[in-house]
Amino acid sequence: MKISIINGSPKLGKSTSELIVEYLTPLISKNNSIEVFNTNTTALNEGQLSGIICSDTIIFAFPLYVDSIPSNLLRLLIGLEKRQFPSQNIMVYCVVNNGFFEGKQNHIAVKQIKSWCAINHLIWGQGIGIGAGEMLPFLKDIPLGHGPNKNIGNAIKQLSFNILTRQGGEDLFISPNWPRFLWKVQSSLFVWYPRAKSNGLKKSRLFEQVQKNYLDNIKQLEQKGKKQ
Ligand SMILES: Cc1cc2nc3c(=O)[nH]c(=O)nc-3n(C[C@H](O)[C@H](O)[C@H](O)COP(=O)(O)O)c2cc1C
Repeated sequence: MKISIINGSPKLGKSTSELIVEYLTPLISKNNSIEVFNTNTTALNEGQLSGIICSDTIIFAFPLYVDSIPSNLLRLLIGLEKRQFPSQNIMVYCVVNNGFFEGKQNHIAVKQIKSWCAINHLIWGQGIGIGAGEMLPFLKDIPLGHGPNKNIGNAIKQLSFNILTRQGGEDLFISPNWPRFLWKVQSSLFVWYPRAKSNGLKKSRLFEQVQKNYLDNIKQLEQKGKKQ
């Protein structure tokens, strides 16, 4: 079976989507030919696009961007659609990871891939949504299915079984087995603030919009009160 895995992260360096691909690949590689495509730099060339549309199975691993699909992946989806798939017997699966703790946040992006599947007459397999995606690289030395990687391991195992048997499965939305409040503190200190700083953004600016929305809401409530 020819399997194409698409890493839809726009990141140039290491990404959680890449880690997910690394988890999945050994579980589905026996007797199958696997090719991984990165969409983070330039658009894929004609040969690569033809390779994807001639697959038996296509797997998308990508991050959630503004409750949706990142633009680099959208470009690829449109590019594939234009070429038309030679077979209607192609299975499609996806694994979406997001920054907020709850994996459920990915449900719209999973639906978008599902719709793309329907438009192209492909067979929908299963979608997995993983919350607290930025935590996964910190957990990479813990075996899948254990400790904080328990839910992720179980979901990846179920997904790989469905891929190998070419069957569909219920969409799963999960988070690492870790306290939400703790990750909120840890992710601020070790992920979001340092990342903002490395992009020249001050911590105070992160709260500017929140403050503005808060003041706008108060203004609106006051105006409503005056009218009544
Ligand atoms: C422009 C942008 C938009 C994002 N939008 C969301 C979002 O709507 N919801 C969310 O939970 N995370 C959001 N995130 C966080 C990413 O989904 C998260 O960092 C993810 O783990 C990155 O995965 P990757 O390493 O595979 O690229 C956003 C990140 C960026 C840079």
